[in-house]
Amino acid sequence: MKVAEVRADMPFLENVVYMDAASTTPTPKPVVDAMFEYYHSYNTNIGRGAYRAAIKATSEVSKTRSRLAKFINCDHDEIIFTNNTTQAINLVSHGFNFKKGDSIIVPNIEHHSNLVPWLNLKKLGVNIKMIKADKNQMVNPADIEDAIDESTKLITLTHVSNSIGSVLPVHEIGKIAKENDIYYMVDAAQSAGHMSMDIKRIQADFMAFPGHKGFLGPVGTGLLYCDMEIMEDLEPIHLGGGTVTDVTETDFKLAKPPERFEGGTLNISGIIGLGSAIEYLNRIGMENIEKHSKKYTQMMYKGIQDVENSIVYGRPEAIYDIVGFNISGVHCHDVAKILDEQARICVRSGMHCAIPAIRQIGAYDFGGTVRASIHYYNTKEEIKILIDTLEEISRFLGD
Ligand SMILES: Cc1ncc(COP(=O)(O)O)c(C=O)c1O
Repeated sequence: MKVAEVRADMPFLENVVYMDAASTTPTPKPVVDAMFEYYHSYNTNIGRGAYRAAIKATSEVSKTRSRLAKFINCDHDEIIFTNNTTQAINLVSHGFNFKKGDSIIVPNIEHHSNLVPWLNLKKLGVNIKMIKADKNQMVNPADIEDAIDESTKLITLTHVSNSIGSVLPVHEIGKIAKENDIYYMVDAAQSAGHMSMDIKRIQADFMAFPGHKGFLGPVGTGLLYCDMEIMEDLEPIHLGGGTVTDVTETDFKLAKPPERFEGGTLNISGIIGLGSAIEYLNRIGMENIEKHSKKYTQMMYKGIQDVENSIVYGRPEAIYDIVGFNISGVHCHDVAKILDEQARICVRSGMHCAIPAIRQIGAYDFGGTVRASIHYYNTKEEIKILIDTLEEISRFLGD
């Protein structure tokens, strides 16, 4: 599919220059249609009713699981549905039997969702070993290797930094984790749907995904990939309906994975929409998305770098779909507000739920950064509008 066809499926883009894909993405019409069809024609719960409408809903949810599994190269039952990335990460932090004396290795540039759940384990006596990234938010695999000792239970890190888009060496670190027999978790919130992904090559035991960002699925969807070999070691954190096969007055028997982790009614329409979104990405072609991302990230980085008074973070060759910047002399929220008021450009500004990461790049005193983040639907005309408007802001307000 061409960019123009995709834009035609996203009427929201007629009114704005949307550059906040790192927060969430517009939902294409076929995805909305799939959800509408569910509500219109077979709005039932799943895994319960014996009637045909309920069987259809159950089968559509299973279809999404299969599509996701194929997309990331894992088995159908290794996909656990959640409402977002944060829930997926918390399922591991709460469910994986961390105990006093264990240690967890995590870089200091993580989104709070892949940091706070681990810091919270300090209450149990778990030791958090923070790895310092460099000023471009690159993590050196050797630093991870040096931090490993016999207490290390998990290495966890983001695939792509949500604050400045730096791409971390997840394959190399996966190899280190495997060689040292340590569990490995990757936060794929900013890479899923933006680049093709093979879980087997990354060698992750756990991987957390949003459905609502790069996958172009609806909000309220996400998933945890968990290697089937370790599913038995993961405890469900939401027990109740749908998670058991037998219950007596004194005990219960857990259902097999992944059902045991999906307590209560799921976001059925959202999951059906997510299945349609995966089909949509396949129609665009991941190779086309990657080509677009590489070209447009560079274009955006260089354009912003050429704006007088700009400070752009990260190394251009090592970032992907996200550019973090400031205009010297102007607060990042003012830049974002003016971009919207002058040219209807939607970008995020502030700390990006990653305060240590913002400190790491020296942007804390600016109040954070401005973040422009793109996907396949963005055009070079939009990037030009962004650069032209930034030039105006810099001319009138920068120093
Ligand atoms: C790297 C990263 N991890 C986790 C999250 C949390 O994602 P969600 O809102 O799906 O829970 C985000 C959100 O922006 C993110 O960028």
